[in-house]
Amino acid sequence: MGPGIMGQLVEMAPTAHTEHQECIRCHAPLAEQANDLSAALAGPSRALPRSSPSPALHQQGLTCAACHVRAHERFGPPRRDGSMPDAGQRAALPHNGFTATSAFQDSRFCAACHQFKRDEFALNGKLLENTYEEWRASRHAREGRSCQSCHMPERRHLWRGIHDPEMVRAAIQFVPEGGRVIGGAVHAALTVRNTGAGHYFPTYVTPKVIAEIEQVSSDGRMLPGTRRERVIQRRVPLDLSREIADTRLPPDGELRLDYDRPLHRAAVGLVFRLRVEPDDFYAGFYRSLLTGGEVGRGKDMIRAALKQAESSGFVAFEARRLLPKP
Ligand code: HEC
Ligand code: HEC
Ligand code: HEC
Ligand code: HEC
Repeated sequence: MGPGIMGQLVEMAPTAHTEHQECIRCHAPLAEQANDLSAALAGPSRALPRSSPSPALHQQGLTCAACHVRAHERFGPPRRDGSMPDAGQRAALPHNGFTATSAFQDSRFCAACHQFKRDEFALNGKLLENTYEEWRASRHAREGRSCQSCHMPERRHLWRGIHDPEMVRAAIQFVPEGGRVIGGAVHAALTVRNTGAGHYFPTYVTPKVIAEIEQVSSDGRMLPGTRRERVIQRRVPLDLSREIADTRLPPDGELRLDYDRPLHRAAVGLVFRLRVEPDDFYAGFYRSLLTGGEVGRGKDMIRAALKQAESSGFVAFEARRLLPKP
């Protein structure tokens, strides 16, 4: 559980279980975690031991048991060779082995937390979280590529996504073109194609991705007035009252940024870039919580969360082209 979630939970009453559930049913779903959270919120002495060596149960977030244990019985996917442990083998194993079920290999396994139900929160007729349905309509679903095949390769529990530069590079084909000067103007284009994400790129409202082209001087400085950019994002205001724009790339969708600007006299080259700000929405949200004076006990945590959100950005792709000398 990151400080961004805890910072909001501590503002809630210790006994507000229904309110807590609206968050922890995905972030810390065990019944024991709900009780532990209430106790921590109620008792100032136990409250929020942020650096204790063994964090309180609720602070461990989404644990093994949330996905693998029901009523003290262990569940998991069939063995890699497809076999299931029989009763004799299970009796010889710790905790009685496990019950094998193919549910673990099904994309619906992920939908529980990555897909809103039909009657849940939507904007402009689209659910706020719609990853499973986006996937179901994609080529990847038709080709039998589950969420697990991309996010848990060889069953490794990686769950890398928009915060991981390698993963973003696996999602995108980045094609810079041109860099010619005709009649004093620079002509170029950048195409960004979603070939590798099994859903919209990005799937959530929280990240912001920027495709940009600009002219640079011999010492690599960006030259004022030469920049062109297009934003890839499902843009919503902080109060989630409406959808401002949706320029995300559906699976196999693409964006083309055409560039046609006067050649700057100091320009020696063109730079094409794809920048990712995975936590753009959260950064804005935390800033407004802090400036609006809406946080009390959670202030330090929200500050820490803001710092994290502001520093998660990276450049996923960058290409340079020399411009011909006039
Ligand atoms: C339906 C499941 C679900 C519910 C309910 C939910 N979240 Fe999340 N939350 C997610 C997922 C999935 C992510 C990761 C999204 C991403 O960053 O790409 C996330 C990310 C976050 C993050 C940013 C990541 C971090 O660790 O700081 C914060 C903060 C957060 N949620 C807070 C909340 C709060 C507060 C509530 C209750 C009002 C809530 N969430 C309810 C699924 C959920
Ligand atoms: C978000 C849910 C989730 C969490 C949390 C989770 N797992 Fe899993 N686990 C899965 C899924 C899904 C699979 C099957 C992946 C597949 O078949 O591609 C799996 C597979 C496994 C397997 C079988 C691996 C194999 O090689 O056959 C083991 C063992 C396992 N998990 C243990 C753990 C342990 C231990 C933890 C905690 C450290 C954990 N899991 C946390 C969802 C989860
Ligand atoms: C019990 C709820 C739950 C289940 C089931 C679940 N997730 Fe998540 N997942 C979350 C939460 C909560 C987060 C955000 C964690 C955070 O950043 O604080 C998350 C984060 C992620 C991320 C990282 C997002 C980012 O922005 O970097 C990926 C990728 C992901 N999950 C994929 C999957 C896949 C694939 C499955 C199915 C095998 C799955 N999840 C099952 C709750 C769940
Ligand atoms: C073909 C491979 C592939 C499949 C299938 C796939 N994903 Fe992804 N996913 C990616 C890549 C690549 C990224 C990183 C780029 C991005 O964020 O879109 C990603 C990102 C994410 C993120 C990060 C948040 C965000 O805003 O993008 C989440 C959460 C996620 N996937 C969940 C899922 C779930 C749930 C499924 C199944 C319903 C799924 N993915 C199916 C490749 C895949």
